[in-house]
Order: sequence, then structure tokens, then C-alpha cells
Amino acid sequence: MTQITVKTTCPYDILIGDGLLQRSGELARQVNNGHRALIVTDSNVAPLYSQKVAASFIRAGFETEIFTFPAGEQSKRLDTISKIYTRLAQANFTRKDLLVALGGGVTGDMTGFAAATWLRGIDFIQLPTTLLAQVDSSVGGKTGVDIPQGKNLVGAFRQPVRVVADISTLDTLTHAVFTDGMAEVIKTAAIMDASLFELLMDDRAMSSGSRRDIISRCIDIKRRVVERDEYEGGERKLLNFGHTLGHALEKHYNYSDITHGFAVAVGMNKITAASERRGLTAKGTAAKLELLLKRWGLPVADKACLEDYLSGIRLDKKRAGADIDLVLLRDSGHAFIHTLPMADLASFLAVTGEDET
Ligand SMILES: NC(=O)c1ccc[n+]([C@@H]2O[C@H](COP(=O)([O-])OP(=O)(O)OC[C@H]3O[C@@H](n4cnc5c(N)ncnc54)[C@H](O)[C@@H]3O)[C@@H](O)[C@H]2O)c1
Ligand SMILES: [Zn+2]
Repeated sequence: MTQITVKTTCPYDILIGDGLLQRSGELARQVNNGHRALIVTDSNVAPLYSQKVAASFIRAGFETEIFTFPAGEQSKRLDTISKIYTRLAQANFTRKDLLVALGGGVTGDMTGFAAATWLRGIDFIQLPTTLLAQVDSSVGGKTGVDIPQGKNLVGAFRQPVRVVADISTLDTLTHAVFTDGMAEVIKTAAIMDASLFELLMDDRAMSSGSRRDIISRCIDIKRRVVERDEYEGGERKLLNFGHTLGHALEKHYNYSDITHGFAVAVGMNKITAASERRGLTAKGTAAKLELLLKRWGLPVADKACLEDYLSGIRLDKKRAGADIDLVLLRDSGHAFIHTLPMADLASFLAVTGEDET
């Protein structure tokens, strides 16, 4: 088992290993003294793992219940949170009790938000079961839900009391969901770890013998960034590499015809090609990134046109002011923030001859 400690306002451990779900109750007990635990999970994960986790929590002395919601991003909304509150009220959950997020990023974001707001804040533990959730969403304390006006517009920063990443759960992921998570792995390497970037060039990097090492390295990078900038005032923005264009693409397809990881892959490739053309990125970086994305089955282009991206970015309610902060690569393994007037974005992105309107 690998252990990484995140020294945020309330420090917590991330445990990474094989077969940890069997021990999840005992591992939760070490950090929470409550009587009750509510396991929040989705309809795909519940039949695979919820009984195993519930049994472990019961053995650890928790009165345990399971709340299951329909799998998918469409469930990440206030309506589901409201149903979780109802269950917590019915079970007389106190400030000492524990919420358990068993699943991917959707489950983690919602459970964290419910934990941040129930009785003004109770403990929650993350048991991430997708690659994306293990390397990214379960770490760092961003929680929230979507509303019709946009994704993740309602939320709170709340750190979990522990993260237990059982990497054997990745065996049951569909190829598409696994590949989606690889976009965040590649993102992490591209912004901060040149040697990890090189390692990923080998398509055996995620074989069962080496994936714990890769996942741990990604988590450790996120840990470092989150420790230095818990509330995203500066450096944490680097984790958004590929996301400005990626989010615009997701919006363009109404969050239904493209997954997050695929959109981010296209976004990383497009922004890096543009910044290399402007001389801000070392020559050859875009080609290396493109090769790596393709190696893992990720897309590098999309039929959306420049105006589709620009309108998505203009609509981004999180973007403040007349400028835009772009995350660019200096080379593979080093990122920086480049601030640009919004008015210059079209020409920054346009390839020669492309419509710049
Ligand atoms: N909080 C953050 O910092 C942060 C960071 C990145 C992404 N996110 C959020 O994460 C979400 C995406 O996360 P995701 O890709 O994990 O989505 P997800 O939770 O919907 O999981 C993807 C699919 O995999 C299934 N699944 C999960 N674990 C499984 C397993 N072990 N075996 C088989 N199937 C399994 C799920 O049921 C779902 O169908 C988005 O809502 C995004 O906004 C949050
Ligand atoms: Zn992402």
C-alpha cells in the first residue's frame, strides 16, 4: 500500500493499493468515530462493490446504509442531493457520522457536497473507483453539482478525511471510461512531470504491475499543487490544462456526445499546437503530445470549428473579466499560465487561413 499525506487546512491521507475495499470500514474507523455511515454510490457500482464495502463498515462497527442513484452525469444535480439529505434526516445523522463516496467523480463530487452542507459540514471519505476519480477528482476537496445553466456551478471546498483508492476496481471499468481517465493522467504528466510523460509513451505503463506507481505519481503531483494553492488562487489553475477548450467542446455537444476526458484530450492538443505556432512552446512538443494521446486511444481533433470553441468560452460563467488565463506547456512536463485579452483569443487559436471570427 502506498500512503500520501495531503497537508491542507485539515490534513488527510490517501491510501493506494490492491484489494483495499475489503478493509475500507477499518480504514474509515481510524479517522472517524461516528455511529453511522451512509454509502453513496451509483447504479453501476452498487452491484459490483457496495455489499463488500457495507460488510466492511458493519465489521468496523458502523450502522451502515446504502444510497444508490442512477449512474451518469445527469444525476449530478441538486435533486439527488436533496434525496441524500432526506436519507440523512431519516437516519438521524449527527455531526459525528460519516458519508462514504463509493464510485467515480460524479459520486465523489455529490457526496462531498452533501457532506459539506449537512449540518454545516460532516466527515466524508472517498473510495474512488474510476481512473479519473483516483488520479484527480477524489483529491483536493472540490465538491459540487451541475445546474441547468452549467456544470459544477454550485459547490464547496471540503477535503475528505481519507481517500482509499483500491486500484483493483479499475478492472471492471469499460475501455471507454478507462481511456477517459487516461486523459487526466496525460494532463498531469504534461504539466509537471517530464519523466512520467516519457514513461507513458510505453503502452504497458498501465499494466497491472505498474499502474499503482503511475496513479501514485499523479496523486502526488495533485497533492503538491493543492497543498500550495488549496483554493485555486494561482498554481492550481495549471490542472486546468486542456480544460478551457475541453469545456467549450463539452458545452458545444451539450454534455452528451463527448466525454470529459475526450474533450480535454482535444483541448490539450489544440492549445499546444497553437502555442507552439506562437513560439511559446518548445518545437516538437505538440507532436509528442499528439502521439501520446493517440497511443492511449484518445482523440486529438474534432469537427467543431473555431467559432464553436469561442462561443463556449464566452459563455463560461466562471471566467471573469476581459482577459483569459490559458494554461500552456513550455515543453512536455512544464506548464505555465499565459494571460491573453479575450479579444486576441481567436487569432491565438486560428491556424493560418482559418476563419478568425
Ligand atoms: N472534484 C474535482 O476536482 C473533479 C475533477 C475532475 C472531474 N470531476 C468530475 O468528475 C466527474 C467525472 O468522473 P468520472 O469520469 O469518474 O464519472 P462517473 O462517476 O460518472 O463514472 C463513469 C462511469 O463509470 C462507472 N463506474 C465507476 N466505477 C466503476 C467501476 N469500478 N467498474 C465499472 N464501472 C464503474 C460509473 O457508473 C459511470 O457510468 C464529472 O462530473 C467531473 O465534473 C471533478
Ligand atoms: Zn478534468
